[in-house]
Amino acid sequence: MDWHARYAEQAAWTRQIRSWLLKECDAPRAARILEVGCGTGAVLADTPPTEGTRLFGVDTARPALRLATRNAPQAACAQGDALRLPYASRAFDIVLCHFLLLWLPDPLAALREMRRVTRPGGCVLALAEPDYGGRIDHPPALAEAAAWQVRSLRAQGADPEMGRKLPGLLRRAGLHLEGWGILGAQQAAQREDDTGESSEWRVFREDMRHLSRGPAESQIASWERIATRAHREGERVLFVPLFYAWGKAVS
Ligand SMILES: C[S@@+](CC[C@H](N)C(=O)[O-])C[C@H]1O[C@@H](n2cnc3c(N)ncnc32)[C@H](O)[C@@H]1O
Repeated sequence: MDWHARYAEQAAWTRQIRSWLLKECDAPRAARILEVGCGTGAVLADTPPTEGTRLFGVDTARPALRLATRNAPQAACAQGDALRLPYASRAFDIVLCHFLLLWLPDPLAALREMRRVTRPGGCVLALAEPDYGGRIDHPPALAEAAAWQVRSLRAQGADPEMGRKLPGLLRRAGLHLEGWGILGAQQAAQREDDTGESSEWRVFREDMRHLSRGPAESQIASWERIATRAHREGERVLFVPLFYAWGKAVS
């Protein structure tokens, strides 16, 4: 599985909202922006530095960080835990995370750390936290596959309903909640030459590896055929609400 390709695909989903939120944060010209849980650097690489902006990334995983250094050479990346960030208090103007909090055993503690390293008046952005409780799948035959994916996320220690918890978590972390939202789903009509290829079923098979007794490969292949046929016929709908919320650090 090429995780960087997957993360780059996901970074493209949030490009517009990130750009809008970064403007909303009204950062100074030489803003210092940190991504916590930066992974392979997909979001940092997709955040063009403007007017002297300085980008930073932190993650626990060394292999991901090596890729981040290559993919986003303009960012200063370091190894560190979201629960004990290796930065001084008030060091950043904007601190963001993207597809991170659902994976953490204590997302509230991570948000408190993000607040700690944000200067008063600066912003904390929690981006792209999915909520599988609001998933829409069509054709209906694919609902069973969706349920397996939720089981796998739980088995991996993730919270499949993190999205809806964001506004409350930001408040409880001591941030002044500025707003929250759900990324709208917008899908271009299928083109004639569209093969229906996407990373969806590669990710699904990866997820199933975390279950000791998951669905049989023949069953997965059957779901994939249904999804691919529906996609080609322009009938496939897959929507997982991606929540975002942003708040200000107050002194
Ligand atoms: C789903 S990936 C998202 C990567 C990146 N934010 C993106 O959207 O492309 C989650 C990342 O969080 C990192 N991570 C997990 N727990 C962490 C922790 N406690 N502190 C810092 N990073 C963590 C993982 O190593 C992984 O790179």
